Amino acid sequence: MDRDPTIPEAGPEPMTDVRTDYVFDNAHPQAVRQHRYLAEAHDPLTLARLAETGVGPGWHCLDVGTGGGSVAAWLADRVAPSGSVLATDVDPGHVRPRPGLTALAHDIATDPLPEARFDLIVARLVLRHLPDRAAVLDRLVRALVPGGWLQVDEFDTTYEPLLLAPDESTAHLYRRFLAAKDAVMRAGGVDPAWGRRVPEAMRAAGLVDIDPRPHVQLRHPGAADLLLLEHHTHHLRDGLLAAGMTEADLGALRSALREPELRACSSVMYSVHGRKPAR
Ligand SMILES: C[S@@+](CC[C@H](N)C(=O)[O-])C[C@H]1O[C@@H](n2cnc3c(N)ncnc32)[C@H](O)[C@@H]1O
Repeated sequence: MDRDPTIPEAGPEPMTDVRTDYVFDNAHPQAVRQHRYLAEAHDPLTLARLAETGVGPGWHCLDVGTGGGSVAAWLADRVAPSGSVLATDVDPGHVRPRPGLTALAHDIATDPLPEARFDLIVARLVLRHLPDRAAVLDRLVRALVPGGWLQVDEFDTTYEPLLLAPDESTAHLYRRFLAAKDAVMRAGGVDPAWGRRVPEAMRAAGLVDIDPRPHVQLRHPGAADLLLLEHHTHHLRDGLLAAGMTEADLGALRSALREPELRACSSVMYSVHGRKPAR
């Protein structure tokens, strides 16, 4: 894709050998489904919150850890024709070309980022994976222009209760799966409760006008947020087996997630706004 003229060439270290201990893997055949379900389940909230900032023609935006690029694509349409969107990811291979959108292989924890460049930065479900998330937040704040907006959308997965299962053994299996997934995430450096910590972390990073909005949705068969769990049984298979699940458990869980009666509450998604103080 075209290079964004607002972004300087890479610093002294080339950005080609981007690496991370990220628990998912964008090169995995399941990654396309992951990005599709994330967009389906969470774009309605993310995009409504972005619209609240007033983002429009001429704005320069950064989407950190863009994944499938759905948020960046929406932004590119909003800021056209004079604005720009930079979509970064350690593996930006899933981003489709679009006018005004530049995709860049970039590790937000280590690669150079321009200072005071962006009117709006959005990061959804990325910082939770980065053990040095407070330092990354500081870098994002430095990359904002004075008065610029930061939107961080993140889960708190310590709350995601099961509401209704066909029988006790299905309920037990669902809860064992959530516990195993939690173990996989923690082993990969994820803070499962990061979503609820974002407002204070933003204040510590010097942002003002901090505005957190918690959001939950119903998990029912066919809902994207439940399909995401089914997808995890494939994408995180090795970790789930290491955490004590068996192949038979994973197969039974996939069937259970299609039970018409199944109802669960999603984890909490926190969509948090903060602004860099104007000069
Ligand atoms: C759970 S996905 C979320 C994708 C997208 N933001 C969304 O919400 O649909 C996390 C994304 O962050 C990317 N990522 C992980 N570690 C990263 C890092 N250190 N720097 C940049 N991107 C990273 C992954 O490659 C992945 O695409």
